[in-house]
Amino acid sequence: MDNEIYSPGLEGVVAGETAVSTLAGGLQYRGYPIEELATHSTFEETAYLLLYGELPNVAELDGFRSRLGAAANVCPQILEILRQIPAATPCMDVLRTCVSLLGHWDPDAQDTSHAANLRKAERLLAQLPVLLAAHWRHCQQLPLVPPDAQRGLADNLLWMLHGEPPSPRAARALDVSLILYAEHEYNASTFAARVVASTLSDLHSAVTAAVGALKGPLHGGANEHVLSILQAAGSPEQAEAWVRGELAARRRIMGFGHRVYKQSDPRAEYLKVLCRDLAEETGNSSLEAIAETIERVVRREKNLPPNLDWPSARIYHYLKLPVALYTPLFVLSRVAGWCAHIIEQQANNRLIRPRSRYIGRQTRSWVPLVDR
Ligand code: ACO
Repeated sequence: MDNEIYSPGLEGVVAGETAVSTLAGGLQYRGYPIEELATHSTFEETAYLLLYGELPNVAELDGFRSRLGAAANVCPQILEILRQIPAATPCMDVLRTCVSLLGHWDPDAQDTSHAANLRKAERLLAQLPVLLAAHWRHCQQLPLVPPDAQRGLADNLLWMLHGEPPSPRAARALDVSLILYAEHEYNASTFAARVVASTLSDLHSAVTAAVGALKGPLHGGANEHVLSILQAAGSPEQAEAWVRGELAARRRIMGFGHRVYKQSDPRAEYLKVLCRDLAEETGNSSLEAIAETIERVVRREKNLPPNLDWPSARIYHYLKLPVALYTPLFVLSRVAGWCAHIIEQQANNRLIRPRSRYIGRQTRSWVPLVDR
């Protein structure tokens, strides 16, 4: 191939344009630094910003919230199918199925117009938390807690999972983590979504592919491993020897390293402070001390910074959320970013179809079956 450009894992390759977010000079969604959004905004406002390009005014936010509230009434057939799924199925697989199922009942399923994509994105944002909570409560043999349209998305999710109203601090901590998880330009799952969208397939198909990509432990799945790392490290005193042993054995410490951020992940930096406060408040200071030791050693030995999964998994633990839900929580947030990218891709589409470098056998001749 003439002018062949090859970068394994597409590292450093600019694979397309986007106006949704940038990592240049700090992470920004539609021009707003994530630190400002995490300090002042809510997840709903952030999702609106990602989908529509601008922060909502009061009337727009009211309209958005009431549409989300109405869409949260998931059709009973889907809840019935959900009950048939074996309880041991990983929640990420369940969510992947849910996205696909929701497409079957969505009135705009095959309509790929801009307006229909926005309507479908809003419905997914509203429906996935309800289905995740319903599945979890069903597996725990607990009665379903219906969504409460008066609550924000994070508040409502904690309510539907735990069956009791969360403290404002708990709801806010989850909300901030959802804001920080919502978007990250051409990461693996978003790229998967854009590849599917570029064939002019439908939004539910593209989001289904993205959920599959996010599940992997090198991407979103990493947050489900963070707690077992902290537990395996034992105590603040034992943590240094433990992590040195892991690194010497060339095992990866999940929650560290990033394809783009080599010095620090601004999302992890922001969440670290909130995480520390929440740990103190919930009697988890010892776990924070283990985390700090691991962070110090991994930086010193490998020069690797923690990524967003490192503090967010701890926050979810302090909020008493089950580990099996950590990556699904990432989905509930990132679906906003995925949909913004799918809409952007289809608004100015070019089929994503790269080339490969062939490393197989040279040309050879057919051998009849009896001679092989
Ligand atoms: N623990 C130990 N060593 C690591 C880690 C880690 N978490 N991450 C990278 N390294 C090491 C590699 O072993 C390699 O070392 P070597 O050069 O001595 O062989 C070097 O750092 C470079 O690693 P690569 O895999 O080439 O770096 P890449 O940019 O491809 O990796 C990735 C990015 C996949 C995220 C990697 O850092 C990783 O596996 N991290 C753990 C999984 C994780 O936390 N994923 C979440 C990503 S962020 C998110 O999805 C929100």
